[in-house]
Order: sequence, then C-alpha cells, then structure tokens
Amino acid sequence: MRIAVLRDYQSLSERAAALVSARIGKKPTAVLGLATGSTPLGLYRELVKAAQRGLVDFSGVTTFNLDEYYPIERESLQSYYYYMQQHFWGPLGICPGRAHIPDGRAGDIAGVCSDYEQKIMDAGGIDLQILGIGVNGHIGFNEPGAALSAKTHLASLSAETIAANSRFFEDRDAVPRRAISMGLGTIMKAREILLLASGSEKARAIGETVRGKLTTKVPASLLQAHPRVTVMVDRAAACCLR
Ligand code: F6R
Repeated sequence: MRIAVLRDYQSLSERAAALVSARIGKKPTAVLGLATGSTPLGLYRELVKAAQRGLVDFSGVTTFNLDEYYPIERESLQSYYYYMQQHFWGPLGICPGRAHIPDGRAGDIAGVCSDYEQKIMDAGGIDLQILGIGVNGHIGFNEPGAALSAKTHLASLSAETIAANSRFFEDRDAVPRRAISMGLGTIMKAREILLLASGSEKARAIGETVRGKLTTKVPASLLQAHPRVTVMVDRAAACCLR
C-alpha cells in the first residue's frame, strides 16, 4: 500500500483529483468505480473544476458506483443516484449510458446484482476504484463480519453505519436498513484502488486497515492483499499511523 498524508481535506481532494485526472489522461476510456458520502465531495468538486477548465475530459469515461440504499427512489434526496446527479454526472455531463449505479427500486434484487457484475465485466473491469471508509472499517456497504460477500449483493447496514448515515436523513429511523453493494471480490478485482479518509473519526479505521492484521472484522484491511492501493488521508485521519 502506498500511503499519502496530506495537510488537510482540501489538499487531499486536490491530490486525489490529480491522480484521477492523470489516469484518465493516460486512458481516456477509463472505467472508474465511485463512492458517495462526504469524503469524495471535494474530489468531485475538483474534478468538475478541472473538466470545466479543459484539463481533463470525461467524455470517454464509464463509471460504476459502489452502492445504493435499498429500497429507495431515485428522486429521493438521500439516494446515491441523486447525489451522483448533483455532484458528478450532472455537472460533468456524463451521458446516462456510461454512468451506472445499482437500482434501489428493483424488485428482482438477485437479477440486479448479477447484471451489475456482468456490466462491469462487459466494460472491461474497473481501472480505478475510489473508496471511502466507514468508522468501523467498512468499504462500500461491506460491514465487519465473519463472512463477507464477494460479489454485488443485498447488504444489511450495521448499527454504527445507520448511526453515522443518519446525518443525511430526518432521523435514525428513516435510514434504510439495507443497500445493494459491490462485494469485496468486485472491489478487489479493480486494477487500482484509491482509498480516501479525512478527519479524526476515521483514524482508528485507517490505522487498522494499514497497520492491523488482515481480518474480515475490518473489511478495508483486505486491501492489504491488493497489489496497487493508494491510501490518501489528511493529518487528522493519519494519527494512528505514526
Ligand atoms: C459510499 C460508501 C461508504 C462510504 C463510507 C464513508 O458509497 O460506499 O462506504 O464511503 O461510509 O462515508 P463518509 O465519506 O460519508 O464518511
């Protein structure tokens, strides 16, 4: 794992945007795996700025999001579909056929999950997967547990994740209890991974991911087995790495 410690959230966002732009510069038809949540907002803002200045071109890029709540309507302000439309696909003008996210309205969940895996394969696999991390070490909605799913699946949110994500909803009861998420195997198949974390509340999870033993109790620690991972953190999130 390569570790980059940046001064603050803004520097982290700029450095991450530079890495993503460089990869697209090398491969204009790159396939990106994308995360939602608070952490990548700065990265998306910097990428939109760079695209508007003509420094990076997303017209050939295909994207696959990690996850979506289930059940949820696309128009819901809390859906990840809505988030992506607001912060990334919309401002960049990414054409809908190139922007993929699991369907949180689907009746046939097993079908949605296997189609999603197939679409990723048909696109040639993910070149660069962007990840955030939960306070409990989750990536996507792969929560700590004895058995982790390899492929896209219907996941149950842990109590910690429901509590953390309740800030986006009216209250804790309004947070969906389930989500459709790429599995650890889907994530590990990406050719390159960029894990971002900001703030002291992520410090323990980052410490365990990077320095701890590889365990399903900390799903992100499985990234230790991936050949090309960059962990980019601000100083606050890096305090358990010393
Ligand atoms: C979001 C996702 C989650 C988040 C994680 C951190 O698509 O897959 O794993 O990356 O919960 O969320 P934030 O960035 O809001 O702290």
